[in-house]
Amino acid sequence: MASDQKVLEVNDLNVHYFTPRGAVIAANAVNLYVKEGEIVGLVGESGCGKTTVAMSILQMVSAPGRIVGGEIKIEGQNIVNLPEKELRKIRWRKLALIPQGAMNSLNPVIKIREQMEDGITAHEKVRGVALRDKVFKLLNDVGLPERVYNMFPHELSGGMKQRVCIAMAVALNPVIIIADEPTSALDVVVQRVVAQTLLDVKTRLGVSMIMIGHDMGLQAQMVDRVAVMYAGNLVEVGPVGSIFEHPYHPYTRLLIDAIPSTKQKKSLKVTEGLTHDLRNPPRGCCFQFRCPFVRDACREKPPAFKQMAPDHFVACVQY
Ligand SMILES: Nc1ncnc2c1ncn2[C@@H]1O[C@H](COP(=O)(O)OP(=O)(O)OP(=O)(O)O)[C@@H](O)[C@H]1O
Ligand SMILES: [Mg+2]
Repeated sequence: MASDQKVLEVNDLNVHYFTPRGAVIAANAVNLYVKEGEIVGLVGESGCGKTTVAMSILQMVSAPGRIVGGEIKIEGQNIVNLPEKELRKIRWRKLALIPQGAMNSLNPVIKIREQMEDGITAHEKVRGVALRDKVFKLLNDVGLPERVYNMFPHELSGGMKQRVCIAMAVALNPVIIIADEPTSALDVVVQRVVAQTLLDVKTRLGVSMIMIGHDMGLQAQMVDRVAVMYAGNLVEVGPVGSIFEHPYHPYTRLLIDAIPSTKQKKSLKVTEGLTHDLRNPPRGCCFQFRCPFVRDACREKPPAFKQMAPDHFVACVQY
């Protein structure tokens, strides 16, 4: 269960990618926090800025991207603009990333043992039998047999590789794990196994987590709070039960409506319109071009966040 201690705070984060054709506003005044032991889901369609937020937390936004404003606080300490040497310590001691497409980032010609051991010895003075035992324990923690130790990535299934990546992320006992679409590209059954592995690890270690995804169905079963993102903006944040019971933002409703159901046959909803060019955001609400309820007020200024229920906030002029 989550405590009230905030282990991560993202305050007013602004991230731009400076391209030759103008600045892409990939995160616009994003505010988010994660409490101790909590899993926060970050959802939204492709290109809305989820990975950008994740990489900003680690201070690893790739060029030509840059954090142009805001704070990232880890256990109360703002790490934006910290010297690289200090950042490196925090990054591996406190933060762990399971990057998007993690399983494909394992080197196919290097044994799992070597890749895991290298990751550990780069940061910890553990060697020999103790090191091997540590890797065995990590493999065991993510439900993999010891024989994986001596295998190559190409000998493992996608789900097994993804579990190796989870083991590597927890190796240094981080305070918070950021998992960027950890179950994408896996079949549904394996998705469940990987999701359960993450939940087990989280419970056992009491670690906090940001779970990035676009599948609201999977989020519903995994996270404590959901943050919904659209075109670089957060539009709704709240406890998972409250969000599913009463989604206030039209975009959140759309995401929930997109969950397939076998009980109730429904036609697939398609929203008209496209996301605006992130280099040229409109005045007013970010969802105005696709919102079925758009009115004049939406085009005037960005809607402020309003509290609708305990811990549940939405940015929409309807309320
Ligand atoms: N290196 C870059 N240069 C220019 N624009 C970029 C760069 N990286 C990302 N962007 C833009 O920033 C926006 C946010 O990208 P980001 O990768 O954070 O989205 P995402 O929500 O993680 O998407 P996905 O679900 O596809 O992983 C997108 O519009 C993308 O085109
Ligand atoms: Mg991404």
